[in-house]
Amino acid sequence: MDTADEKAAEGAVQPPNPWDPLVRISHWAIAAAVITNGFITKPGSTAHLWVGWAVIGVFASRLIWGVVGPAEARFNAFPPSPAAAVRHIGNLLRGGAREYPSHNPAGAIMVYALWACLTLVTATGLFMTDGKSPTTIAEDRAAVAAGNWPVLVNPCSESNDGESQFYTRVAGEVHELAANLLLVLATVHVGGVFVESRALGRNLIRPMIAGKRRRN
Ligand code: HEM
Ligand code: HEM
Repeated sequence: MDTADEKAAEGAVQPPNPWDPLVRISHWAIAAAVITNGFITKPGSTAHLWVGWAVIGVFASRLIWGVVGPAEARFNAFPPSPAAAVRHIGNLLRGGAREYPSHNPAGAIMVYALWACLTLVTATGLFMTDGKSPTTIAEDRAAVAAGNWPVLVNPCSESNDGESQFYTRVAGEVHELAANLLLVLATVHVGGVFVESRALGRNLIRPMIAGKRRRN
């Protein structure tokens, strides 16, 4: 255990620093967008696309923050280390949970899994819609409805040949699968937050809302 990354994964005795506003705002914005598009908006509707575009912007900011943001928000503060994650869960089960400078190693694996699903969902969403803005798509749909446009299998996509339709359908299947996986992982993530809060004897949710990380 020599590198800074491995030391970060091993854990720290110091209480962590507060989460900065960008981490907090992006967290709740991403959570709200995922829940909204997963359960509330009509799939593929203009509202769905606007929420999707908003989440892309917020997610991109968080990824840039992972390189240029404060220490605890940086990727190297929570490296994906399956071995450290297993050790952390072992410690948790033995009642020896400890503090980390950023996300704990098990939480870090979950964060990367959530981000991977979000990347897949947004990339397939953009693919299905040819990267066109929600405004352009709304105009295209109005044109289709008025009969001023050739009728397409997927009116989001300009490509109408068989091969393009096939790839659009595949992207749609991957989009659905990744979105469902994202919702399942988010549920497990919330369960993990409660378990970890109990084990550490401090409320992990409060710092994600208010920034402060005081003990209960
Ligand atoms: C917050 C992230 C998102 C979530 C959780 C999400 C979730 C979903 C779900 C559950 C469906 C229904 C899939 C089905 O039953 O076939 C769907 C459909 C769709 N989504 Fe998303 N989505 C997200 C972001 C996006 C983005 C960024 C775009 C495009 C820019 C997009 C475009 C579409 C389209 C066009 C459909 C219709 C697919 C079809 O008709 O087969 N979504 N989305
Ligand atoms: C769809 C819903 C959700 C998604 C996609 C999601 C995703 C994430 C992600 C990506 C992070 C890492 C934040 C970062 O470093 O920028 C995170 C952290 C966190 N989330 Fe969520 N989240 C969701 C819902 C929730 C809910 C409902 C709660 C509270 C009950 C919650 C509590 C937390 C906490 C406390 C952390 C920080 C954990 C720590 O101290 O290491 N999340 N979440």
